[in-house]
Amino acid sequence: MKVLGIETSCDETAASVVVDGRVALSDVVSTQIDIHRRWGGVVPELASRNHVVQVMPVIDEALARAGLQLSDLDGLAVTSGPGLQGALLVGLQVAKALSLATGLPFAGVNHLEGHLLAIRLLPDAPEPPFFGLIVSGGHTSLYDVPAFGTYHRIGATRDDAAGEAYDKVAKVLGLPYPGGQPIDELAQRGDPKAIRFPRALPGPDVFDWSFSGLKTSVLNHVREHGQPTGQALADLCASFQEAVADVLTKKILAAAKKHHSKTLVICGGVAANSRLRALAQERATEAGVRLCLPPQRLCTDNGAMIAVAGYEALKRGGRADFSLNSDPAWRL
Ligand code: KG4
Ligand code: ZN
Repeated sequence: MKVLGIETSCDETAASVVVDGRVALSDVVSTQIDIHRRWGGVVPELASRNHVVQVMPVIDEALARAGLQLSDLDGLAVTSGPGLQGALLVGLQVAKALSLATGLPFAGVNHLEGHLLAIRLLPDAPEPPFFGLIVSGGHTSLYDVPAFGTYHRIGATRDDAAGEAYDKVAKVLGLPYPGGQPIDELAQRGDPKAIRFPRALPGPDVFDWSFSGLKTSVLNHVREHGQPTGQALADLCASFQEAVADVLTKKILAAAKKHHSKTLVICGGVAANSRLRALAQERATEAGVRLCLPPQRLCTDNGAMIAVAGYEALKRGGRADFSLNSDPAWRL
């Protein structure tokens, strides 16, 4: 079954053709980062307008790279939430139009389910049950996944998402948007023990996070000691990064232990972080838990993960009709 996945929920216009929810024949991503960077974050109206311009060329390119035409497909999948309302509507209207023109069935996919299932594109992909941490610019949530289509949220951030904390700290430090990668690169040259930033770790049986206190601590540090440069900047980045990786990995391994889960998946943009990956691997090995980490290109937003989730939905009979609306706050 060949499914075309379409993703326009935030600042990436993406499309991909995936066979049987496992093998991507193409994976095209057009990023708007350069457009939003000068504003220090995603501007919703600019995102919608650029999706309108990019969406059809991106879909055409995904089909061309797969060597297919629309008539060779078996289904369509589109992100219908959560995300920016105007941005979501662009992808959704395109999916409806293509479905109307071709008669292909289409499925509305939850963007977070897409992130959780991106790992299915790897040859040795885990089957449910597993625990999945989604850690991105908009979300930091831990799910128990007993089966495809069933997601129990067992923990989440109480304030900022981890990626949001990265982006806000980068702003304070005068680094470009989005801040994850520049902080990650600087941190490689820094001492993670240079500054002991606070770790918010709510009670042992609570699998929630809080990152706003950490962000404020960085801000206070800069106010007290001045804008860091050179080694001091690298040390601050490494210390901040260590605090984020520490609380994320501590909580997911504690949750896995409590719920007797033997497989952990980490996904979303922040899953590209080098320290998070290394520390999670170290602690998972210690605990005898299998850790599955998607490669970096599958961590950030893409159309292939939407095609995977759409394939699973269509297989279950989850066919949408033309009354489907976008849901910017859709909770998985
Ligand atoms: O999943 P994603 O592409 O979009 C959302 O759905 O949010 O994630 C983007 C987030 C941004 O906050 C970005 O700063 C963060 O992922 N990010 C990173 C790294 N690469 C991207 N955070 C930490 N380390 C990285 N290497
Ligand atoms: Zn995302």
